[in-house]
Amino acid sequence: MIKEIKDDENRIKIGSIIDSSFGKWMDEAAKKSRKVVFVDENTYEYCWPYLLTNFVALKEAEVIVLPEGEENKSMEVTMQVWQALSEYKIKRGDVIINLGGGVVTDMGGFIASVYKRGVTFINIPTTLLAMVDASVGGKTGVNLPPWKNQLGTFSLPQFIFCDPIFLQTLPEKELRSGRAEMIKHGLISDAKFYEEMITKFDPSSEKVIAKAVQLKADIVDRDPEEKGERKKLNFGHTVGHAIESYCTQQKTAVTHGDCVAWGMVVEAYLSKGLAGLDPQKYSAIERDIQEIYGHPPLHKNDVSALIELMRQDKKNTSEGLNCTLLQSIGDSLIDGYVSEEQMTNALENYLEN
Ligand SMILES: NC(=O)c1ccc[n+]([C@@H]2O[C@H](COP(=O)([O-])OP(=O)(O)OC[C@H]3O[C@@H](n4cnc5c(N)ncnc54)[C@H](O)[C@@H]3O)[C@@H](O)[C@H]2O)c1
Repeated sequence: MIKEIKDDENRIKIGSIIDSSFGKWMDEAAKKSRKVVFVDENTYEYCWPYLLTNFVALKEAEVIVLPEGEENKSMEVTMQVWQALSEYKIKRGDVIINLGGGVVTDMGGFIASVYKRGVTFINIPTTLLAMVDASVGGKTGVNLPPWKNQLGTFSLPQFIFCDPIFLQTLPEKELRSGRAEMIKHGLISDAKFYEEMITKFDPSSEKVIAKAVQLKADIVDRDPEEKGERKKLNFGHTVGHAIESYCTQQKTAVTHGDCVAWGMVVEAYLSKGLAGLDPQKYSAIERDIQEIYGHPPLHKNDVSALIELMRQDKKNTSEGLNCTLLQSIGDSLIDGYVSEEQMTNALENYLEN
């Protein structure tokens, strides 16, 4: 059974893509459009054959294989793809299908939203993280090294089809990465869901995926362009993005979700002093996250480089580093401003020598 998430236009479908409206949409609404499928090397190998076998309409599609990995979520790759779309003579009325993790859905969405001032695109997320977070909500973009996601648009996909079948080939560390964003959804808005994500996490459960997506979709619907409440979804990301950028620079392999998890510990620590988070609740969060994600591969002498990266965070104003903070588990506060000194102390408290 396909579960429809209640969002602005019921554009998010969860369940077997074969049973979904994807095939009908291609055969009817998109019949006359040419289709371009964006994959990366892994989703070309593991996910594209399944889609091609089940949807005849895709036989004629152009397939563009993007290089895998965060370091390739870049303007260089984007330019090459725009060039290829022009060479294929793709028109504004054609359709782009993003089949991949968050790197493919972020960059593919960005490519589609700018090319010819906007081509219709569909997201078929293939990682847990992209299903429950990256493919939902219309944020697209690429990195401007060393900073993450500095170039981008708000642009909604026509549809999002989340089919857990794709998770069967996903490495364990990528499931753990997606779990971090689900933990985050719970921490910012639903204590019961947080508990569930910590104690009995089942990534193959459509019900769990649907709940996580619904939590995000509800927030995005109320504030699509992040003028207010949507900032809650950034919990853990001020620090997490700095860790991710720093590790990418250093060529240390980390996942986005691991970095967000570590970022959540630091931002929860700051929440004690700045948002009234009960110290016992902080200790529980720290213990829970430590058990699943261990400790970041960083030391106290990396702190100044992390602060330098945070200075460029999109969310900052003249008031300081902008963080979402926790008042309690399941209750968050946007626009918490943190001084560099407070952030330095929090990081030094967390990182080893
Ligand atoms: N737009 C948003 O709102 C938003 C939200 C959260 C994260 N993000 C972005 O998402 C990105 C992270 O996404 P991600 O964690 O999905 O990373 P990713 O796209 O790099 O995928 C992780 C790895 O899994 C591989 N893979 C993907 N699907 C697979 C499958 N089914 N089987 C086997 N391997 C598979 C990929 O090739 C890659 O090696 C970051 O760039 C982050 O900034 C965006």
